[in-house]
Amino acid sequence: MRASVVDYRDAARAYLPRFAWGYLEGGAEDWRSMQRNRDAYAALSFLPRVLIDVSAVDTVVNVAGSSLAFPAIVGPTGLNGLYRHRAEETLARAATAAGLPFVLSTASNSLMEDVRNAAPTGDLWLQLYVQQDRRIAESMMARAQACGMHTLLLTVDTPVTGKRDHYARTGFTLPLKWTPRLLWDVISHPRWLMAVGRHGVPQLANLARSAGVSENIEAQAAAMSRQMDTRLAWSDLAWVRKHWKGRVLVKGVQRVADAELAKQHGADGVVLSNHGGRQLDGALSPLEILAQTVDSVGHKHFDVIIDGGVRRGSDIAKAVSLGASAVLLGRAPLYGLAADGESGPADVLTILRAEFDTCLRLLGCPRAAELDASYLAPLTGAGP
Ligand code: FNR
Repeated sequence: MRASVVDYRDAARAYLPRFAWGYLEGGAEDWRSMQRNRDAYAALSFLPRVLIDVSAVDTVVNVAGSSLAFPAIVGPTGLNGLYRHRAEETLARAATAAGLPFVLSTASNSLMEDVRNAAPTGDLWLQLYVQQDRRIAESMMARAQACGMHTLLLTVDTPVTGKRDHYARTGFTLPLKWTPRLLWDVISHPRWLMAVGRHGVPQLANLARSAGVSENIEAQAAAMSRQMDTRLAWSDLAWVRKHWKGRVLVKGVQRVADAELAKQHGADGVVLSNHGGRQLDGALSPLEILAQTVDSVGHKHFDVIIDGGVRRGSDIAKAVSLGASAVLLGRAPLYGLAADGESGPADVLTILRAEFDTCLRLLGCPRAAELDASYLAPLTGAGP
């Protein structure tokens, strides 16, 4: 096992071709919002208590009807097959072994039925992107429920893809075009070529199956992935509700008023997120609106989850202290996946859990559920 999430990040970078590393790591435009996510955590400092019995700590929390071994969820990320073969299955197994939910992306490279088979007892959630042809989303929701999924994350911050300059710099397109530059990129990363390249280009399996596409799957699925329904509106939550019997969380909320709207429209919670800084560059870090959002809408029947920039167990403690029910992990498990394959995501989750456990003991807070703002020093000045 490596020492920390950053060590997995470095190993992932060395292993991946430039185009795949760019897709995993890259933010939109100048990466300001991505950096801001990290800066927001760095700007917070702890106020630990001493002489508290921390011989045993309880890290378990309950979120959206699920019990989490510690306040983290393995979040949805598309195209995981760029890093390892059968990546979603690996992530689902790792999350399940760690006692955490795994959120399967609409843009996954494995079929949700295969992921379910890989983690038969896992707490699997579905992330939904809504395409112009609503039958695709309806089919995906039906399949997910048949797979025993109970919680849906409706991602609402991606009517279009943010401008990611590194796509042009590395020659990344969907579907992949084998230009000399891309071929050289791949050939100069032989470990990746053996682990992933020999299986061919990963396909957007879930989208394709729900759209009934069976031939020329790669080109059509890629085309579909660009046909987001840009008309999606608050009133469509009723349509989601009609097709989804379980919990619905709105992912990608970036202002307090929108969290209130989500609640008014019957959502069970929100994920405060700037999509890991991959969408609107210049957006705030969600950590900056967390406390205010929790004040406004958070209570035990409405979960406020947060993501972006979580790389340490202490980051999780900071988010929970400010009122988050849990954090979503985006890149962190992917660094593990790329670096080490099957064992990587499990190791990353083990490290984050151990760091969180240590942090609780050093804070003098033996129960994760009892973290609150009193464990944080008040921010001075204008904040991050
Ligand atoms: C994402 N994210 C994302 N979100 C989503 O709702 N559906 C998706 O398919 C994807 N795809 C995706 C791919 C990759 C490579 C990354 C890094 C991220 C966003 C993700 O769920 C989450 O919001 C951020 O990743 C959180 O930030 P950190 O933890 O990566 O800093």
